[in-house]
Amino acid sequence: MTLIYKARVPTNIAFLKYWGKSDATQQWPANDSLSMTLDLYSETLASREPLPAQAGAYAFSSDQALTASEAFLHKGLRHLQWLAAQLDFSERIYLHTRNEFPASCGIASSARGLGSLTLAALACWTQSSSLSQLASCGFTRERIAQLARAGSGSACRSFWGGFVHWQRGETAQTQSVLPLASQDHWDLRDTIVIVSTQEKLISSSQGHRLAPTSVQFVPRLARLPARLAEFQTAILQKNIRQLGQLLEEEALEMHAVMASSQPPCVYMSEATQTFLQFLQEIRVQKALPIYFTLDAGPNVHLIYEARHQEAVASLLKTYQTIDVGISSGPSLGTETAQDGHH
Ligand code: DP6
Repeated sequence: MTLIYKARVPTNIAFLKYWGKSDATQQWPANDSLSMTLDLYSETLASREPLPAQAGAYAFSSDQALTASEAFLHKGLRHLQWLAAQLDFSERIYLHTRNEFPASCGIASSARGLGSLTLAALACWTQSSSLSQLASCGFTRERIAQLARAGSGSACRSFWGGFVHWQRGETAQTQSVLPLASQDHWDLRDTIVIVSTQEKLISSSQGHRLAPTSVQFVPRLARLPARLAEFQTAILQKNIRQLGQLLEEEALEMHAVMASSQPPCVYMSEATQTFLQFLQEIRVQKALPIYFTLDAGPNVHLIYEARHQEAVASLLKTYQTIDVGISSGPSLGTETAQDGHH
């Protein structure tokens, strides 16, 4: 019988964006960020025995040579090897990661992907079958988030449900992640409108490096503390109009920094622009409080209160969408497989 550790980690959509790093080797962001954890997961299975092949899964083993070229595989493998070296775990483990919606959809997959990889690997190395058992081995949620952050910065926000604040702190060592409000505080939804399924040409890590070359970067950083306070108030008071205005201002500002960096990185496509215009029109016509935010990609995230879910769905009938609510956070469990099969 083979014991398989199963980690499920959600993705998150940033309201206040992490864009630019003060120190890339220590994954120290240039600014605080704030996100909502989404009901959209990556699942990683980990075991000390080879796992049966799985359709649509990325397979890793901790002692694999770094030859993978596919972007996620490369990032994941590098992180796994870093984790093993950092924590002095030498035992070989095998992992499979699967995304609820394929990564190639261009849907933020690095936060959940690297998050679930980290959680499953730690569970397997320490033989912990629950989050509380992991904590008793010294891997508290804070510690796991910190380790996942090394793989992908935004992954650290995925270890709490609801609304989450990643604080930059005074030094790289004093940065921290804390929940602002829980999943049931405010019933918001995110409908992701897939305007393009192309993989992005510029990775976000590369984009982070370019951010400080934009003349808009420093003025942006100066504006962010005030915007953070406004975001916090809008969330705590459940003020959708204020939240919406902040979301759009912030997303457009990040894309302005992207487009004005040297060389420029343009993540929006013509289809993004066309959709945003359409949104503008329907918002006026229907007087619906639906607002957009954008990631480092062309797809649009629509944020709105759950009571408008049907109205939003009927407006978007002709689009490919993924409609998700708020997640309560990650989970960890085990299952057994006979002779390596399950
Ligand atoms: C635009 O976390 O993917 O989604 O730390 O280099 O892995 P690395 O970058 P990543 O950057 C996310 C950028 C963003 C904004 C955000 O999630 O805050």
